[in-house]
Amino acid sequence: MEEKPFAPNVDVNTGAIRVPEGYTEWPTLGTWAHAHTGEQLEMIGPGVHEYHVVYTQPETIAYYRTHRRFPDGAVLVKELFNAETLAMTTGPAVGHGTTIKGWFVLIRDTKGRYKESPLWGDGWAWSLFNADDPTRTVSKNYKTDCIPCHTPARELAPRNAVDADKWIYSFGYPVLRKQ
Ligand code: HEC
Repeated sequence: MEEKPFAPNVDVNTGAIRVPEGYTEWPTLGTWAHAHTGEQLEMIGPGVHEYHVVYTQPETIAYYRTHRRFPDGAVLVKELFNAETLAMTTGPAVGHGTTIKGWFVLIRDTKGRYKESPLWGDGWAWSLFNADDPTRTVSKNYKTDCIPCHTPARELAPRNAVDADKWIYSFGYPVLRKQ
């Protein structure tokens, strides 16, 4: 058993995962905005109804820029925000985040730890949390809860990416491209 946690949000004895404390002080990797479409658009007008903000440790960004891959212990936190759209002086439909809906958390694991856990595998720990409890994982099995939706990322990933990094929608994170 490792003595020093390899990531700040893992119980090294059990492999239990939580939303890392203080992650909002980390840099953002990038953001995703979900716009109204179809019937919603006709009824409510244009705008944003959900924002996803992705955070990681500063050292993860530095490592990625040098090595073109995520380091062991890299934590990616995707914050889900409800959003509201207003006419503002910058434009007629400007969205902003309001309340937190929950968090998706990934931890890079280059060593194949916790093989018996259905939250660990394919190079990452995979976990979902509801807004009411950042310490309690509500997802059960990454193979059914996460992998199907992250499979399209593999086609979009750089061809020379490390296999495990192909699960990540990295084209949405321009800071990783800068040198
Ligand atoms: C409904 C499809 C869907 C499901 C289910 C899903 N993801 Fe994702 N995930 C995405 C998409 C698409 C993105 C990027 C765009 C966005 O957030 O809208 C993303 C982004 C992420 C990110 C930011 C890093 C990245 O890959 O860009 C994390 C962290 C994440 N997901 C974790 C998880 C975990 C953990 C699970 C399972 C508990 C999960 N996701 C399940 C579709 C999904």
